[in-house]
Amino acid sequence: MPPTAPLRAARGMRDLLPDALSTWREVLGAAREEALRYGYREIEVPMLEQAALVERGVGGDTDVVQKEIYRIRPTAEGGSTPLVLRPEATAGVVRAYFEGRLNQGPQPVRLWTAGPMFRHDRPQAGRFRQFQQFDVEVIGDAGPAFDAEVIELTWGWYRALGLGGLSLELNSIGDAACRPAYLRRLRDYFRPHAVRLGPDDRHRLETNPLRLLDSKDPVLVELREAAPRITDALCPECAAHWAQLRALLDAAGIPYRLNPHLVRGLDYYTRTVWEYQHQSLGGAQNSLGGGGRYDGLAETLGYPPTPAVGFAGGLDRTVLMLDEQRGGPRPAAPPALLLLPDGDGLDLAAAGLARAARQVTSVAADYSRRSLRAKMRGAGGSGARWAAIFDDGEARRRVVQLRDLDSGEQREVGWDELPALLMTSPGGPA
Ligand code: HAM
Repeated sequence: MPPTAPLRAARGMRDLLPDALSTWREVLGAAREEALRYGYREIEVPMLEQAALVERGVGGDTDVVQKEIYRIRPTAEGGSTPLVLRPEATAGVVRAYFEGRLNQGPQPVRLWTAGPMFRHDRPQAGRFRQFQQFDVEVIGDAGPAFDAEVIELTWGWYRALGLGGLSLELNSIGDAACRPAYLRRLRDYFRPHAVRLGPDDRHRLETNPLRLLDSKDPVLVELREAAPRITDALCPECAAHWAQLRALLDAAGIPYRLNPHLVRGLDYYTRTVWEYQHQSLGGAQNSLGGGGRYDGLAETLGYPPTPAVGFAGGLDRTVLMLDEQRGGPRPAAPPALLLLPDGDGLDLAAAGLARAARQVTSVAADYSRRSLRAKMRGAGGSGARWAAIFDDGEARRRVVQLRDLDSGEQREVGWDELPALLMTSPGGPA
C-alpha cells in the first residue's frame, strides 16, 4: 500500500494544544468563579438532542437551523428519532429544567453550564464548527432585575479577565403584544426597496423582517438608518421593563450602547437582547457573547409558559482576544522539578525518586538515552524550577545534585531529604 497523505482534523474542528489551553482554563475558571459568586448552580445537558427541540426552540427559519445543524443518522439497529448535535445550550437547559422538575422548587432557578456546541458554517477566523460556550440561564421569573443580573455577571467575567476593547450593545425587541404591529411597519418600510435586496433578504422580509436590521448588506445598512425603531413602538409592559433594566445597569455602572439594529440570530428572544462586541473581531464574527430574555421558549417546547433570561459567551473567541491582547498565550506551566539520570540503568532509581518528590511538587523524569549535556540544554529552556541530576555513583550514595535552574546554584542533597527541601525552598510548593 502506498503511504497516504497524513490524516488531518476535520474541517472547522481544531485541537487545543497545551499552551493554548492555559488561557482556556483561565477563562473557564473565571467563568465558573463568577457564576458561583452569583449563586448559579452547574448543570450538564447532552450534546445530542432531538431535532425537534432545536428546530422549535431556536426557530425553523433561522440560519442556525436552516444551514448549520449537524444531523445524526439513526444507527443500523434502529433509533428513528432524528437527533442533532446541539448548536447552543439554551433549549436543552430549558428542557432539563422541566424534565428534572427544577420548576417545582423555589423560583427562579439560576443555572450555568459550559461545553462544546456545533454549527456547520464556513470556517474562518473566530468561527469554528465545534466551539465552546459558557452559558448562564435564569429560569422562572420575568423581572428586569434578572436581565440586569445576567449582564452584570457576564460583564464581571470579562472584567475579571482584564479583556479590553469590549462594547456592550443593548436593545429591546418587544414581545407578542407589540412586536407583530412593529413587524408590519418594518415590512411596509422595506417593501418598496425589495428589488434592491438579495433573494435571502427578500425571503426574510416576509418571514422575519427583524433580521434585515442586522444584515451586513450595504444596501440594508444604509436603509435601516431611517427604519422605524422597535424601542419607539414597545407596549407599556415592554417599555417599563426596558426602562427599569437601563436604570439597573446605570446604577451598576455598566456602560452600554443602545443599538436599535441588534436583533440576534435566534428566534426565541423577547424584550431584552444584548451582545458583547469586540473591536478587533472582524465582520460577522465580532460577537464575543450574547444573550437575552426568552419568555416564550418554554411554551414553544411544549411546557407551561415560563419566563427566562440567559447568555452564552464564546470561549474560543474570548481566548483568541485575550491572547491577542497579551501578545500570545502564556505557556503551560512546566513541571517544577526535572529528574535527570546521567547514564544507563538508572530508570528504577529515577522512577522511585520522582515518586517520592511528587508527594510535594510536580516532577518529570527524563528517561531518554540522551547525553547529560543534551538533557541539561532541554531543562534550561523548559521553564522548570529545578533539575536533580545523578549518575551511577551518586545513585549508590543515594544523593542528587540539585540545581536551581534560575540562579544556576547547585548543591548535593540526599534522596531522603529531597521532598522536604523542595517543600521549604523559596518559590517551592510551600
Ligand atoms: P449565540 O449568539 O448564537 O447565542 O452564541 C453565543 C456566542 O457563541 C457568540 O457570541 C460567539 O462568541 C459564540 N459562537 C457562536 N457560533 C460560533 C462559531 N461558529 N464559532 C465560534 N464561536 C461561536 C446563543 O447561543 C444563545 N444560546 C445565548 C443565550 C443563552 N441566550 C439566552 N440564553
